[in-house]
Amino acid sequence: IKTIGVLTSGGDAPGMNAAIRAVVRTAINKGLKVKGIEKGYNGLINNEIVDMDKHSVSDIIQKGGTILYTARCLEFMTEEGVQKAVENCRKAGIDGMVVIGGDGSFRGAQKLAAHGINTIGVPGTIDLDIACTEYTIGFDTAVNTAMEAIDKIRDTSTSHERCSIIEVMGRNAGYIALWCGIANGAEDILLPERYDCDEQAIINHIIEGRKKGKKHHLIINAEGIGHSTGMARRIEAATGIETRATILGYMQRGGSPTCKDRMYASIMGSYAVDLLNEGKSNRLVAYKNGAFIDYDIDEALAMKKDINEYEFDVSNLLSR
Ligand code: F6P
Repeated sequence: IKTIGVLTSGGDAPGMNAAIRAVVRTAINKGLKVKGIEKGYNGLINNEIVDMDKHSVSDIIQKGGTILYTARCLEFMTEEGVQKAVENCRKAGIDGMVVIGGDGSFRGAQKLAAHGINTIGVPGTIDLDIACTEYTIGFDTAVNTAMEAIDKIRDTSTSHERCSIIEVMGRNAGYIALWCGIANGAEDILLPERYDCDEQAIINHIIEGRKKGKKHHLIINAEGIGHSTGMARRIEAATGIETRATILGYMQRGGSPTCKDRMYASIMGSYAVDLLNEGKSNRLVAYKNGAFIDYDIDEALAMKKDINEYEFDVSNLLSR
């Protein structure tokens, strides 16, 4: 491997810049050249490729977002799109690629690898929904951002003796909801993996709490369940208690990364370059049982992940 490319793809996540910096600096320090691909696979298809040096990643470790921009690219799903991308890689002399993103991005990485570009994936998503790894870049910052916002909502909710439904991101996964639910001491935590649509149980819980003198009732609802506004309307009608819905939205994806996100993203970025240097391809960097490891991408994408049962049980015990 002489020249590696690096791109970010899918939803951005705080810590992606730390990973880019680690890829660029590790590669250059090990005698490789680095090119940055802007706007994910779109940039690869449209030849938006820039030379990177150590200086191009100065002053970015503390910044949210991704300096390489990102996109969700439909054209890369087609063989024609993949061909264009591979051709542009060859023209730019790129023989290795680091793809920072989520599951969808890794399906793209598989295609590049199948066309002879040695490709390594690094898990970057706030959703924590990549089965082979216990850590994904951005999750830690996102849950801390959401937690702080929910604390603020709790203050006003208590002052007004209201019930609050706060919807957090996570696509079809409930990890952000579970973590915030426990960390914010929510009364109800609704996870797509476990929710049985029993709104009456929530209503009964709110009424019980009010009888015991509770001044607020916080419900953390996952994006994968959604419908927070309608839920609030129905709960208010059934309980007579003012109920408000807040959808936290994109603020969860922004902001300066936490120490953990900067640190783990840096290690993962370096690790990806090491794999390329060893001639490896079609691998995914992961964190499991306290160690950074790697998996075959095909194997990793076939894995399934679920909410930890014990953590779920604890979340129920603590909210009652
Ligand atoms: O994957 C990260 C994420 O923020 C999800 O939580 C959410 O469902 C999705 O991206 C939103 O995507 P978009 O930026 O395309 O609206």
